[in-house]
Amino acid sequence: MITFKNVTKRYAKGVVALKGINLNIARGEFVFIVGPTGAGKSTLTKLIYCEELPTEGSVVVAGKDTRKLPRREICLLRRSVGVVFQDFRLLSDRNVFDNVAFALRVVETPKKEIRKRVMAALELVGLRDKCKNMPHELSGGEQQRAVLARALVAQPSILIADEPTGNLDPQTSWEIMKVLCEVNRLGTTVVMATHAKSIVDSLKKRVIELASGQVVRDDASGSYGYDHLEMSDEVNDLQVGVASAIGWLRRKTPSFVPHMAKTALEEAAPAADPNLARVHRRHGSAMS
Ligand SMILES: Nc1ncnc2c1ncn2[C@@H]1O[C@H](COP(=O)(O)OP(=O)(O)OP(=O)(O)O)[C@@H](O)[C@H]1O
Ligand SMILES: [Mg+2]
Repeated sequence: MITFKNVTKRYAKGVVALKGINLNIARGEFVFIVGPTGAGKSTLTKLIYCEELPTEGSVVVAGKDTRKLPRREICLLRRSVGVVFQDFRLLSDRNVFDNVAFALRVVETPKKEIRKRVMAALELVGLRDKCKNMPHELSGGEQQRAVLARALVAQPSILIADEPTGNLDPQTSWEIMKVLCEVNRLGTTVVMATHAKSIVDSLKKRVIELASGQVVRDDASGSYGYDHLEMSDEVNDLQVGVASAIGWLRRKTPSFVPHMAKTALEEAAPAADPNLARVHRRHGSAMS
């Protein structure tokens, strides 16, 4: 269903977001993409729904090589891929039904068909009885479920979710995960980039871990496994402490040399560097 062959993605100014990625996601799979910030998770998802194209190598989605597609076919492919982001918003000037119906109206779907599909999508996310509510009349979790209904209304064969629970409390996050699992059970391939350790650990789905743009792990039934985030609170505290000490030094010492700041940070918080964090983990040395 989705194949990456030797994919490298280079952005402007020479940033290499992905390097030599090879992977295969079969129809009906549920895959978590994990890894530290900047690892390339969002870039990988963008390559699937053609918001970006690979610089080298090929991405094949539903049998189509995305680099070889004319613009019109890219639009068609996008219709078979639903997308949900952390900060996706509903249109505030129309009710839930009209928000979900929006994409179908754009492509001039017949009225009767729109009603059928919108109500089916709202049923799936458990929001049928709120179809006439305005977005501000919904809780955060209900709003996110409406966003999911909007992504699902075109009956996509693939659903891409980039940190869909990023702003939500644990209970609301689980409401969303229940819908994603149900959608997957009904046959949609789900690819979800996330930092939500507890969700990944509980669901025992396939986990692909990226680090510095490369796949460093691909477990058929994996856990989050990656301890950078757990350490990062400590590291953040440490960095805040070092930064405030540096600020104090700057004020007290006119001859302060700025590069000392960088050296101090590196010495104080080696795990802030994802590569170093991996080395710490591989060699079993806890950050202390
Ligand atoms: N449009 C862009 N132009 C230039 N560089 C970019 C662009 N988008 C992303 N990058 C860079 O590519 C790398 C990978 O970014 P990406 O957004 O894929 O990471 P991520 O794993 O999703 O991180 P996060 O967990 O913070 O969401 C980063 O170094 C980022 O700064
Ligand atoms: Mg991201």
